[in-house]
Amino acid sequence: MKIAVVGTGYVGLVTGTCLAETGNQVTCVDINEQKVKMMQEGQLPIYEPGLELLFHRNISQKRLLFTNNLADAIADAQIIFLALPTPPGGDGSADLSYVLGAAKDIAKLVTDYKVIVTKSTVPVGTADKVTAVMNENTSVEFAVVSNPEFLREGVAVEDFMKPDRVVVGTTDERARKLMGELYAPYVRQGNPVIFMDERSSELTKYAANSFLATKISFMNEVANLCELVGADVDMVRRGIGADNRIGNRFLFSGIGYGGSCFPKDVQALAKSAEENKYDFKILNSVMEVNEIQKKVLVQKLKKYYKDGLKGKHFAMWGLAFKPETDDIREAPALYIIDELLKEGATISVFDPEGMKNVKALLGDKITYGADAYGILNDADALLIVTEWSAFRTPDFDKISELLKSKVIFDGRNLYDLQKMIDLGFYYNSIGRKI
Ligand code: UGA
Repeated sequence: MKIAVVGTGYVGLVTGTCLAETGNQVTCVDINEQKVKMMQEGQLPIYEPGLELLFHRNISQKRLLFTNNLADAIADAQIIFLALPTPPGGDGSADLSYVLGAAKDIAKLVTDYKVIVTKSTVPVGTADKVTAVMNENTSVEFAVVSNPEFLREGVAVEDFMKPDRVVVGTTDERARKLMGELYAPYVRQGNPVIFMDERSSELTKYAANSFLATKISFMNEVANLCELVGADVDMVRRGIGADNRIGNRFLFSGIGYGGSCFPKDVQALAKSAEENKYDFKILNSVMEVNEIQKKVLVQKLKKYYKDGLKGKHFAMWGLAFKPETDDIREAPALYIIDELLKEGATISVFDPEGMKNVKALLGDKITYGADAYGILNDADALLIVTEWSAFRTPDFDKISELLKSKVIFDGRNLYDLQKMIDLGFYYNSIGRKI
């Protein structure tokens, strides 16, 4: 099939590349000339495991092209994916100006039937808005389809190539057939392509992310209670996760959810409920709990250092909002750094991928290490903020030697409690005994 992808951000690039991988002819279009040039030369602008291989393979096979010219990109395309940003507007609702602007531009260019697919996370009713904008600007036949993405950063290629499910919202028969054919190679193992109307599909995306965020906030509250009653959240997690109705995934307590999706989507769903005069009470609590949880490590530090944090020096392992990404958007690390600096502490950080982005944001407010151990020297404590695999089995002897005192505050519960006691560490983690 011939496909156009409008927008080469994270979602657009993964979508375009993975669609080319099954033999489709894909043209990605972006207004950023420098970025397009870079991609034409084979440089991948984002870090995502597994993407580079597919990106290069499909570029060299000429199945994946990049352009600044929208008209060129969509001329032959049967399906046009919109993968454009929908940033939160001032009031928390998603800003649709990019999506609707692109719809208008596309409408003015089309000469034959096209399927326009909204891949960005968009509020309920957006397909109708895109349809209205298209209708105002063309009399050519088209269908607007909602096809939300469920990609996780860090495993996005795997998620795209072998999705648990594909959700397609359309009431247009021709579009339904085309979308079914397009996704057939990705669901060969029998995972479902679930067809529904546009509005249900749009809501499915928000409901999925908000439900997952709810699981996390719930477990974070369970963890906080565990600390008060002397229980261990890891045991409770395993105990409840073994019940099939609950499931054992996404039950890890920590220092709050971050990233470009959960915070934005929970807020947008709450906002959308409010606009419809519905008080979605759970969502407000989910957000409130998350705000508190992002600072839980700092609260623990304040409690431990009775004389305050002024003049203390901390080493921090992890900056990215989760492992296997360089993404620091809404990363708990940023909130922790901000609080610690306000308290008068100094911080040295190390993250395998996230340092460049943090440096661009914070400059020399903190110091950056070349490796995990280099920042431990003279630190009062080690703070673990992102659960990178490389931090899971560190050299504890080296840590003991380098740190000023054997103190670890772990926001991701990486280590065995008994082991840490045996090694003589003061080890404070989330929802477990100290
Ligand atoms: C999330 C969803 O998982 C994807 O399905 C969705 O497509 C994507 O948002 C999106 O809307 O684009 P992502 O933001 O990449 O993906 O990251 P997740 O792996 O879902 O993690 C989100 C946050 O939850 C992270 O801060 C992570 O540390 C936290 N988390 C996750 C926990 O605190 N506990 C858990 O058990 C799992």
